[in-house]
Amino acid sequence: MKGVILAGGLGTRLAPLTTITNKHLLPIYDKPMIYYPVQTLVNAGIEDIMVVTGGNNAGDFLRLLGNGRAFGLKWLRYAYQEGEGGIADALSLAEHFAEGEKILVMLGDNVIEKDILAPVRAFRDQEQGARILLKEVPNPSDYGVAVLDGDRVKTIIEKPKDPSTNFAVIGIYMYDGGVFDRIKNLSPSDRGELEITDVNNMYIEDGSMTYDILDGWWADAGSSIEGWFQVNKQVADGGANRLSG
Ligand code: DAU
Repeated sequence: MKGVILAGGLGTRLAPLTTITNKHLLPIYDKPMIYYPVQTLVNAGIEDIMVVTGGNNAGDFLRLLGNGRAFGLKWLRYAYQEGEGGIADALSLAEHFAEGEKILVMLGDNVIEKDILAPVRAFRDQEQGARILLKEVPNPSDYGVAVLDGDRVKTIIEKPKDPSTNFAVIGIYMYDGGVFDRIKNLSPSDRGELEITDVNNMYIEDGSMTYDILDGWWADAGSSIEGWFQVNKQVADGGANRLSG
């Protein structure tokens, strides 16, 4: 399975820290934010990874990550997202890289405590479709929220004002090769973006979406200054997914 890390976007919610740089280059304790998703994918056994970025600082990713040697990788691939068309738009740039294989996608501002070996193994065994990871959180309205029906996801609602569950959809998604055709059928949301939640709901509608509950803590380091600061403290206190480098 190949891996894709999405690290484009403007990161305006972390301004002024992001006025002159991309949020994924900001520190989380003693490493740049982008190190954490790269390490999570490497720990999951993924060796072929593409980083999608954009904006004025794209060259800094190359200077920072190079060929991925700090992570024991032979190479890294890069793609450049023009504009900020949304998570699904950024993912569409990985179509040729994926070559029809299954992919593991991680948002560049997500940090997790442990590894995802078990869900990745389960998805390798899953014939087709998609797989998402959920985590119970105290503030579900900041995220995509999953409505469950036993072992099935009924629907996902993006940042609902009045969430009916507290299961956040975290920024780690597994897809079969059909994901790119689904993205081609998306229309922009009210905020003008191609939403990953709409892609996930397509899989749910045709009955091919599965889920796991993430083991260990999860943090979205890119949604607010408070959130970013909190993750720094969590990593300083307890570490995160055995970072090398
Ligand atoms: O963190 C989990 C949440 O991420 C999910 O629960 C939500 O369903 C999902 O929509 C997303 O919400 P956010 O509002 O946190 O997404 P954000 O705009 O912060 O983008 C997340 C990552 O995706 C970020 O690290 C950069 C990348 N991205 C985003 C956009 C809008 C791109 O690469 N290109 C883009 O155009």
